[in-house]
Amino acid sequence: MSLTTRPPVATLIAENAPFTPEQREWLNGFFAGLLSLDGGITALSPAEAAALIPGALDGSLAPKSPLGDGDDGAAPWHDQTLPLGERMKLADGRPLRRRMMAAMGQQDCGQCGYNCQDYSDAIFLKKEERLNLCVPGGKETARMLKQLYEELDRAPPAAPASVPAAPAESAPAGPGRSRNHPIETTFLSRARLNKQGSQKETWHIEFDLRGTGLDYCVGDSFGLFPTNDPELVDAVIRTIDAPGDFPIGGRTLRDVLLDGVSLAPAPDMLFQLISYLTGGERRRKAQALAAGEDPDGDAQVLDVLAAMEKFSGVRPDPEAFIEALDPLQPRLYSIASSPRTNPGRVALTVDAVRYAVGRRTRLGVASTFLAGRLAPRAKVKTYVQKAQGFGLPADPSTPIIMIGPGTGIAPFRAFLHERMATKAPGRNWLFFGHQHNKYDFFYEDELAGMKAAGVLTRLTLAWSRDSEQKIYVQHRMREVGRDLWAWVADGAHVYVCGDAKHMAKDVECALVDVVATCGARSTDQAIAFVADLKKAGRYQADVY
Ligand SMILES: Cc1cc2nc3c(=O)[nH]c(=O)nc-3n(C[C@H](O)[C@H](O)[C@H](O)COP(=O)(O)OP(=O)(O)OC[C@H]3O[C@@H](n4cnc5c(N)ncnc54)[C@H](O)[C@@H]3O)c2cc1C
Ligand SMILES: NC(=O)c1ccc[n+]([C@@H]2O[C@H](COP(=O)([O-])OP(=O)(O)OC[C@H]3O[C@@H](n4cnc5c(N)ncnc54)[C@H](OP(=O)(O)O)[C@@H]3O)[C@@H](O)[C@H]2O)c1
Repeated sequence: MSLTTRPPVATLIAENAPFTPEQREWLNGFFAGLLSLDGGITALSPAEAAALIPGALDGSLAPKSPLGDGDDGAAPWHDQTLPLGERMKLADGRPLRRRMMAAMGQQDCGQCGYNCQDYSDAIFLKKEERLNLCVPGGKETARMLKQLYEELDRAPPAAPASVPAAPAESAPAGPGRSRNHPIETTFLSRARLNKQGSQKETWHIEFDLRGTGLDYCVGDSFGLFPTNDPELVDAVIRTIDAPGDFPIGGRTLRDVLLDGVSLAPAPDMLFQLISYLTGGERRRKAQALAAGEDPDGDAQVLDVLAAMEKFSGVRPDPEAFIEALDPLQPRLYSIASSPRTNPGRVALTVDAVRYAVGRRTRLGVASTFLAGRLAPRAKVKTYVQKAQGFGLPADPSTPIIMIGPGTGIAPFRAFLHERMATKAPGRNWLFFGHQHNKYDFFYEDELAGMKAAGVLTRLTLAWSRDSEQKIYVQHRMREVGRDLWAWVADGAHVYVCGDAKHMAKDVECALVDVVATCGARSTDQAIAFVADLKKAGRYQADVY
């Protein structure tokens, strides 16, 4: 069925069904996604809506927010490219739990174990005490949440008669199904994906799942608990001048520093602790840093070691020192394999984060753990994070367009393997890009094989550093706009994976341009069209 003959999403819920415009919009999106729009469905009558949604007609559903504060559920701040200040402005005047949501990094990345809304609701309901779980939001989010939490204590809300439990509690996940219940799996291998001469260091990583009972679907992510670099741990121990075997809660200081706490960036609590142990100008600076100020212009680069070196000579009690640090969080990686072609194994595509600050090379904890420190056959605490709205279309004949530069290729390798194994008849188009064709063409032979076999219908490549002008995937999308539009008009699902801050937004803009130019629509209509694709589950993102 061509897109042009589909019923507009806005007609699924009848105008006279008892919903506010926002609820109608949400429900339209929800049902469009649920029903995939493939059957040419027209508007739901009030009676049909009532049959599908208990409470639709008696009005008990319509006006209430899940937490009984009358909030309409709209979240205009839910955009990871907006800075915190702007997000908070958009949430101004909204109930506290909604402002807490606006403080999150807004990626729904799942790293905290929730989506942004559920995490903020859980904090508001005091079912979640940890205010520092938002990885994309970092210290900025943690600080804002702390401030909002103090507001919560000052003016406790009238408790709603019944409040929904946070998802983490309401649906306790089995072993290996959430960050709260990781299981040990075995690290198998790493293989460098870039060729000699590349400026990047990206690895194909495999874990063995056999005997664990753990399984996954393509589109899911793999979570793992890394350990810190032992050299960094030893350097930290030296700066605080404590014995590595100092006992802390039945373990040694060194062990806790290895796998219990984050060593970057230095949290406000650490500066607070330092301020108690020093005096004069140094104390004033530590207090300023603890308050989120930047007295010397170096706050951005102060990891735990750099902070202790800055305040050299401060000797905190090891236990108080550990207390002042944030817990070491797990990291998520998009799964790059299909259980059908790689049974009992899971593959990842991991970019090793290493960068220099002064004379020291800073290491991304999890990526360099995978890229180097982890020995083959070592056991790692891991879990599968189920994808929320990111997966292959239910109908195997639906065409798919996958846009994944850099490590963004990971879930698309999984999709292609799955479609190959299931002999799905749908066409598959991959946009891949990276710095250099010669060095950074990940899975080149494999993709060539899939192309020859007819699984990969089309492969479009963008190399950003092979010419004077940067060529990105979105440039290629515009170049082949007519074909891209034809696929979309044929019902293709569009996927994007990789960098959230810039690439994902730019790709969306390119898609809007293609829809406007090749689909003969105004810009506003094209924006609405892409928004409808999202609501219908036909534009899905896995970005970080
Ligand atoms: C759902 C999801 C899927 C993901 N899939 C993948 C994937 O398939 N492959 C993949 O590689 N990653 C993926 N990630 C990202 C991954 O989870 C980690 O965030 C990433 O590997 C970095 O983690 P790390 O522990 O190595 O680095 P960290 O210790 O967390 O350090 C990273 C931080 O270092 C800083 N930094 C990094 N580079 C620089 C620089 N040049 N200059 C200054 N500061 C810098 C930044 O503050 C950055 O946030 C995914 C994330 C999510 C949420
Ligand atoms: N400084 C950092 O914090 C840092 C450094 C590296 C990676 N990362 C993050 O780590 C993740 C993985 O990175 P990766 O190895 O997959 O690759 P990546 O660094 O995201 O780069 C992949 C390709 O995308 C290009 N690119 C850069 N900006 C783009 C844009 N706005 N639109 C489209 N393409 C763009 C890059 O080109 P050019 O690089 O030539 O511009 C490169 O060719 C990403 O989330 C990335 O943001 C962070």
